[in-house]
Amino acid sequence: MSQHSSIPPTSRVTFGSKLGAIAAAVGSAVGLGNIWRFPFLAGENGGAAFLLIYLASVLLLGIPLVIAEFLIGRTAHRNIAGSFKLLAPGTKWYWLGAMGTLVAVIILGYYLVIAGWTLEYLTLAVGDGFSRMVSVGHELSPDMSGAEILATEFQAFSTSPIAPLGWMTLFIALNAIILLGGVKKGIERASRIMMPMLFVLMLVLCVNSLSLSGAQEGMEFMFRPDFSKVTGHTWLMAMGQAFFSLSIGLGCLITYGSYLGDNTKLGKTALSVGLLDSSVAILAGIVIFPACFSFGIRPEAGPGLVFITLPNVFLQMSGGYIWSVIFFVLIALAALTSTISMYEVPVSYLQEEFKISRRRAIVYSCLFTWCLAIACSLSLGDWSEYTLFGCTIFDICDIITANYMMPIGAMLISLFVGWRLDKAIVRNAITNRANDSGWYVRPLIFILRYFAPLCILIIFLTGLGIIG
Ligand code: PFF
Repeated sequence: MSQHSSIPPTSRVTFGSKLGAIAAAVGSAVGLGNIWRFPFLAGENGGAAFLLIYLASVLLLGIPLVIAEFLIGRTAHRNIAGSFKLLAPGTKWYWLGAMGTLVAVIILGYYLVIAGWTLEYLTLAVGDGFSRMVSVGHELSPDMSGAEILATEFQAFSTSPIAPLGWMTLFIALNAIILLGGVKKGIERASRIMMPMLFVLMLVLCVNSLSLSGAQEGMEFMFRPDFSKVTGHTWLMAMGQAFFSLSIGLGCLITYGSYLGDNTKLGKTALSVGLLDSSVAILAGIVIFPACFSFGIRPEAGPGLVFITLPNVFLQMSGGYIWSVIFFVLIALAALTSTISMYEVPVSYLQEEFKISRRRAIVYSCLFTWCLAIACSLSLGDWSEYTLFGCTIFDICDIITANYMMPIGAMLISLFVGWRLDKAIVRNAITNRANDSGWYVRPLIFILRYFAPLCILIIFLTGLGIIG
């Protein structure tokens, strides 16, 4: 069918301003992915080479895909499945919506666990718990360094069956409250205030890290690439991280795109999201790697990296108490704006496709993710023997989403906009109905038709060891 026919208008709520829309999208993108996941993956995968592949993925694949998702959502003004139903009626594209919803829920399963950890660390920071931990640790075992004590404490906390579950539950409750407040009041307002604060704080921490003794080694690790260590797996991890960090491949930005006003410039918004998001990841690396080398923590320390290095940094910093409190408030808030954007995928899907109230959709989504998050949290401790191919439930949720489902979702979204969607719709969306220049429509379509799907396919197959 020809899609020239105009898309029926909807009276859907939109973000209040262009800046608010950018803040909300950046709020979704900037989160634990930048501050927790990026440093530990870069640490495990060779540092600078990983960073370069990650940045190339953001620029060449990520930003065009952000535009593609915004474009679908803003044109249809519906939830993810509803958008495909409207733009490709009577086809199976609808299932992409169902898959995206599933991906969002699986990511939430483990992301909420880490988000809960940030609350524990916030209360530790407020109660001056890091220095107490280290002094008690020194009394009990005088040979242990501060870093070793913090690592041991982190290990004990993250594998315990009680405290992480409590924090995770509290975090879900916070999400539910904001989600009930709705898109405009809850999400936009929170993001507008805290995103700039987070950015400034990261800059302060960077300056501090650069004055540490391990600054040079840390910066070399982060910026001097050693390509001999790059494998197909590195490419897959770096591309997966780019998609994860930009929140693409599962329809989260389709959902947010559906709340964008008709005058919002999609290209500019996507570019701002890409640049701000990558800057926060780079800043996080500059904060963390010098600290690793200064305090004798291995960059390959895994998911605990941030929770071990940063308390150490704060203990050495003048005014460390107040910086640590601000940092953990901001990282918890960054996690919150990201989880809200993930929740918005199942919530709007259930609400609009199954015609249930928003409140009910929120309750179902929270209950389901709560159960999954309990399993993920326990899989780090008591349930660690339940594995599949050597991976815990926590790892499985992370790996199947970032390395498999998100790249596949991104490829399908790219193919959809590149091949299936009428070019007039694409041009209209990019130029805001011919009010703005559309110089990049052709290169964008080229990228979405050929370049992105092929790159994703090749990286995917190489990463799995099927080719290369
Ligand atoms: N981009 C978020 C982060 O970097 O923490 C994570 C995320 C949010 C992934 C929303 C997926 C998503 F739909």
